[in-house]
Amino acid sequence: MPKHNEKLVIDRATKYYETGTGRVHALDNVSIAIRDHEFVSLVGPSGCGKTTLLWSMAGLHDLTSGEIRLDGTPIHGPHPDIGMVFQDANLLPWRNIQRNLAFPFEISGKSANEDRILQLMERVGLGGFGNKMPRELSGGMQQRASIVRALSFDPSVLLMDEPFGALDAFTRDEMNLLVEEIWMETRKMIVFITHSIPEAVFLSDKVHVLSARPGRLARTFTIPFPRPRPLEIMETREFFDVVNTIKADIQHQPKTSNQALAGAYP
Ligand SMILES: Nc1ncnc2c1ncn2[C@@H]1O[C@H](COP(=O)(O)OP(=O)(O)O)[C@@H](O)[C@H]1O
Ligand SMILES: [Mg+2]
Repeated sequence: MPKHNEKLVIDRATKYYETGTGRVHALDNVSIAIRDHEFVSLVGPSGCGKTTLLWSMAGLHDLTSGEIRLDGTPIHGPHPDIGMVFQDANLLPWRNIQRNLAFPFEISGKSANEDRILQLMERVGLGGFGNKMPRELSGGMQQRASIVRALSFDPSVLLMDEPFGALDAFTRDEMNLLVEEIWMETRKMIVFITHSIPEAVFLSDKVHVLSARPGRLARTFTIPFPRPRPLEIMETREFFDVVNTIKADIQHQPKTSNQALAGAYP
């Protein structure tokens, strides 16, 4: 039985990819329990399996061994209670924003909840942009649309894979504030992948650090700052100290033999 406060449980997640040139050991025995309403980030070196883990949580591919359970039930395919936001907004270029947001409902044979979508568009600052084509919107605005798309089904879990990695620093700050506000309003569980330690610290209750490939859970940091967190906390001594502690921890991860091998294939 799941503990009542553990909504999403990653239980000994291990993943190998079979490729033409052999097996790639992407994830090794990762166990993390995430509570309802919790905001957690996954950080770690490039190629350590963060996306692999998130895809398994979204039911987009299976693990080699171990399992992921939502409310005690193993996930083996896309789940209506889990929304996903990727680094690219992945909007269909030939549909306007409104029709892009209706698309997931069309392919799942459901009627779109137009009111909810309009409300969400207003909420993220996209009010009045429904008839714009994706190319007419900035990267930040496109990413707002993809957040609306993920929230339109009202999932209780939101998975975000480096959603702001391609945005400029100013837009990224704005998006981080927006995510914080949405999280405080909706209290959805958010699992957030980022390369930016300050971003992870700003947003999260907990930051889980994965080791270099094969990804293992190296450490978990609990972030103490009260909410709401204004952007200005990123300028404080306390904030720097937490960021630097996590950075130092990542730099001192022992290098695995796989990583040494990987060095041969940059
Ligand atoms: N479909 C795939 N086939 C083979 N190898 C893959 C595939 N997807 C990812 N990998 C490899 O698995 C490892 C982890 O990848 P990924 O999960 O994308 O890492 P991260 O998101 O942390 O950068 C990397 O070495 C990557 O090259
Ligand atoms: Mg990735």
